[in-house]
Amino acid sequence: MLNLKHIAIIMDGNGRWGKERGLTRSQGHYAGAQAMEKIIDASIEMDIKILTLYAFSSENWSRPKDEVNYLMNLPVKYLKQKLPEFMRRNIKILVTGNTEALPESTSKALQKSVMETENNNGLIVNFAFNYGGRDDILQAVQKVIYDVQKNNMELDQVDEALFQQYLYTKELPDPDLVIRTGGEKRISNFLLWQCSLSELYFSDVYFPDFNEELLKRAVREVQERKSVHHIS
Ligand code: FPP
Repeated sequence: MLNLKHIAIIMDGNGRWGKERGLTRSQGHYAGAQAMEKIIDASIEMDIKILTLYAFSSENWSRPKDEVNYLMNLPVKYLKQKLPEFMRRNIKILVTGNTEALPESTSKALQKSVMETENNNGLIVNFAFNYGGRDDILQAVQKVIYDVQKNNMELDQVDEALFQQYLYTKELPDPDLVIRTGGEKRISNFLLWQCSLSELYFSDVYFPDFNEELLKRAVREVQERKSVHHIS
């Protein structure tokens, strides 16, 4: 059976979920944060090692101000409340993205949870926050050029393995599976370099309604794809 070590999820459809219930888009994000917990539980149960969650993209800044503020405050409230539980459950938090451009309270909350859970060795929950795939590649190129110019290395040393060490996700293996909920079938500037060889799975379900059963269904389908592929 195919071992899925790293699953990455584009948690789309929160806004529409809210609107369709006569709620605000932000209430949709709140429901999304709750669905996230079910997915964390299911990942532990399924022995997945790394769960990357696209929580705020570099494109999301163009959303209405209220919504951006809400999304910036969500980690502050959520992580403060959840940190003791993450410790108890041996969950390690990582953050992938340009955290320097975040409001101080947001980056502090993220940093604190990364530091406090640093020595945990259970499920890794990696929040992609202010993340863009192009930005990731570009900042890596800039750092590579810097190191070459400073004579820290030769240009011909730069191969895929070395370049990977300059990406925001440097400490993580590439995702085996990328799931996008909410009906759209696009990568939308998510882990562009990292998902080159990943399986892709699209679900029409809005993220707040995504659950353990649907995650298992996605994993099953991908495992079936792989087993068919191996026979032929
Ligand atoms: C996309 O849905 C979702 C987001 C922009 C935010 C997702 C964030 C969470 C689920 C919670 C994150 C929580 C923490 C603690 C980091 P959308 O707004 O694009 O939905 P739409 O396509 O229906 O408009």
